[in-house]
Order: sequence, then structure tokens, then C-alpha cells
Amino acid sequence: MTEARIPLAGVIGSPVAHSRSPQLHGHWLRTYGIQGFYIPMDVTRQDLERVIRTLPLMGFVGINVTVPHKEDVLEIADKITDRATLIGAANTLIFRHDGTIHADNTDGYGFMENLRGGAPDWQPEDGPAVVLGAGGAARAVIAALSDAGVANIILTNRTRARAERLRDDFGQRVQVVDWVQAGNVLENASLVVNTTSLGMTGQPELRVPLDGLQAGTVVTDLVYAPLKTRLLCEAEQAGCTVVDGLGMLLHQAVPGFERWFGHRPTVDDATRAAALG
Ligand code: ATR
Repeated sequence: MTEARIPLAGVIGSPVAHSRSPQLHGHWLRTYGIQGFYIPMDVTRQDLERVIRTLPLMGFVGINVTVPHKEDVLEIADKITDRATLIGAANTLIFRHDGTIHADNTDGYGFMENLRGGAPDWQPEDGPAVVLGAGGAARAVIAALSDAGVANIILTNRTRARAERLRDDFGQRVQVVDWVQAGNVLENASLVVNTTSLGMTGQPELRVPLDGLQAGTVVTDLVYAPLKTRLLCEAEQAGCTVVDGLGMLLHQAVPGFERWFGHRPTVDDATRAAALG
């Protein structure tokens, strides 16, 4: 009698020690009594392709990909979903039985699920969404907002040219304003999203003037360390609905776990505690 192979998954990045994903997936594996493992793997760019091609031979069913490899894995994948192509990066790989590697990007899905859970009254038709930052995370957020039907996305970034490239990729619903003008566009926003690394532990503070924030606006930060950034604290004081960034991390992990381990996991308070613990 042959025993079933134990499914393996993990996260590839460099550095990767800070990643919360092993705790998160480990929690789900235990919760659902699934025999499987999820491990962190610190891999250099130079070794990336060789490692990824070896993993399926060892019983890996897929992996998450994090900084700095999210763009590079697209060159290794055999099939790329439309949303990963549009975003220009993948965070989830699936190793198929036929030997092919499928790449997807679930960051936008994670963002939207977190937003819907934390601000259930917010609707895409409510008005302009302001997005701070124009990096990889901003691409995923803009793709998700665009899919959800937000007609007017105001994008502002320290390096304006990067924001303009996003507008070229996503079309006229994206309007670029100068970084120094960021404070002036908050007043009419139904939603404000920080996708920059500003406000993260060890990084400079976000210095955009926030006095334009109106009660009722939904404000969310992709930064989740600390959980309550200065942006979220000031937004709360202004009467805004605030949504922290941890939920995005939890929700983006759901599709991968389901594909690899065959069980759709639930995101709840225990999941949050496990990821933080
Ligand atoms: P990610 O994939 O997480 O989005 P990224 O592509 O490195 O990471 O993007 C980081 C974002 O934070 C960018 O919008 C960056 O602005 P620039 O495009 O001008 O670099 C923004 N950012 C980082 N440090 C910043 C700072 N000190 N002031 C303003 N914006 C900053």
C-alpha cells in the first residue's frame, strides 16, 4: 500500500524571517487537522528558478512569493492569471500535477475582502478613492478597486512618474495628483488607502496633512506593524471608519491554502491572533 504524500507549501522571499505566513498557515493546518507543512525559505534571486523547479519534486504543492521575488516569478511560471499580469507580480504559485507552474496574485482579493469585512457599509459608488503610493501593493489595490467598480481613483506618489505609469496601465479612471497635494484631495474621498511603507515600524512617518479627512470616510492602511498607524489613529479621531492592514494579509492567504490543501480556511479572531502571535 502506498501512503499519500504529505503536501508541503511555504513562502519564498529574502529576507523572509519576519513573514507571518508560516504562523498563519500553520494555524489553519492545525485547526483543520490537515497533515501538511508550511515553511519559510530564504532564497536569493540567483537561486530562485532552480529552487522553484526543484520544489515540486520534493512534494511541494505550491508556494507564496514575497519581496523581492514577486515580479521575477512571472518569468518562471507557465501560466499567469490575468490579474497577476495586470499587476505585474504574483504572490501565489500552484505546482500542478502535469508539471506546470501557475502564478496568481491574491493581494487585491485580500485587500477587498478586508475592506468589505471592516467597512461593510462602504460601496464602490460612494465617491473617489485616494490611493497613497504607486508601488507593487498600489497596483494590486488599484486593480481591486477598479474591478469593484470605483470610477474615480486619485493616485498620489512621491515619485510622480511611477504614478503616471500606473495611470497608463489602468486607464482614465486613475487621476494622478502631486504628492505635495495629497492632503488637499482627502476631503472628498469616500476611501483613503495607504499603500506606502510610511508609518511602518522602523520607517519614517506618513507626513501627509490629515486635517481634510471627513467623518464617514473609510481609511485603511496596508501597514500592519504597528496595527494602529498614526494615519488610522488620526482618522479615528476625525470620525472615520478605520480598517487595519492585518486582515489583507490573512485574506490574501485564503485562495492559496484552499488550492494547496483542499480546504477553504476561515478568517476570524483566532486567525488574527495566530498571525500576530
Ligand atoms: P510595495 O511593493 O510594498 O508597494 P514598493 O514597490 O517598494 O513596495 O513601493 C513603496 C511605496 O512607498 C512607493 O510608493 C514609494 O514611493 P516612491 O515610488 O516615490 O519610491 C513609497 N515610499 C517609500 N518610502 C517613502 C518616503 N520616504 N516618502 C514617500 N513615499 C515613500
